[in-house]
Amino acid sequence: MPTRIILDTDTGVDDALAILLAMRSPELHVEAITAVSGNVHVDKCARNILLTLERLDLDAIPDVAKGEAAPLVKPPFIAGEVHGEDGIGGITGLLNPDGSRLYPDPADRLSPVSAVDLILDRIGMYPDEITLIAVGPLTNVARAIIKNPSRMRKLRQIVIMGGVFRVYGNVSPVAEFNIFVDPHAAQVVCDTGIPLIFVPLDVTMQAILTAERITQGAATGGPVAAFVRDCTAHYVDFHRQRRNVDGCFMHDPLAVAVAFRPDLVEMVDARVDVETAGDLTIGMTVADLRPGRLPPAGANARVCVDVNAEAFLTLFTERVLYR
Ligand code: RIB
Ligand code: CA
Repeated sequence: MPTRIILDTDTGVDDALAILLAMRSPELHVEAITAVSGNVHVDKCARNILLTLERLDLDAIPDVAKGEAAPLVKPPFIAGEVHGEDGIGGITGLLNPDGSRLYPDPADRLSPVSAVDLILDRIGMYPDEITLIAVGPLTNVARAIIKNPSRMRKLRQIVIMGGVFRVYGNVSPVAEFNIFVDPHAAQVVCDTGIPLIFVPLDVTMQAILTAERITQGAATGGPVAAFVRDCTAHYVDFHRQRRNVDGCFMHDPLAVAVAFRPDLVEMVDARVDVETAGDLTIGMTVADLRPGRLPPAGANARVCVDVNAEAFLTLFTERVLYR
């Protein structure tokens, strides 16, 4: 029986790759994909979800709903330099030889329901069954918890691409983007008692899709692999220039994979909290992960501390690039 999931995203290039992996994994049934402001404004994220789904040429698509445009407390903070002004690697500006758009705007198939209400409704339909995979700032998730905490506690678990524990952050030395954008939302999530799995930079930065693998995939001629090549070009350039990596970090696709292949990672129980006030440390995820530490009082999460990156990359390549 496939695991029912809701995928909450700030689509984003790696979010788009995560959508492709989720849709091409028979272990998962994607109930809904929701958008939240993060990498770019939520309007662009919602468009990018639909544009990504159109590459799969599906008869039916999951419900897609637009969510929160701004964090709970902080002002919006975007990452246009990483994902492109359009949030999908600039491909909305690519043209065919005849001047037509290579990736035209998708059909408007957005749900009339807000992301928060769609999440709550779907959990009500399938209590104790749904895994929520959150790969953007946690604003939608926190708003749903605030609106109906008892309903949200009927989630099976929340898999969070977010946080950093034993390496440097990617927005500040101590903070990862998704948590940094909305630390208050992240703390709301940490306090709910819902089973949490953190998939932090500690493991996602080990999962590098190389430019070579992207090129090899595109050479197969498939439209999905061509889309991956096109939408990752800007993202890979960023990684080459700013991360000294000839490829790109697969943050969000790894979080999707963990939801159905937890064997790909090593996890430890922990109490995770989020700094919401520090001038230098806001957005920091704080946990004692030292080996031999006392069992964490009030453990609220499992944190991924290692990954079989090659096994994950093979899974992604086979399911997304070579089909
Ligand atoms: O820090 C990486 C995370 O922030 C990824 O989810 C990326 O898409 C951005 O949302
Ligand atoms: Ca993301």
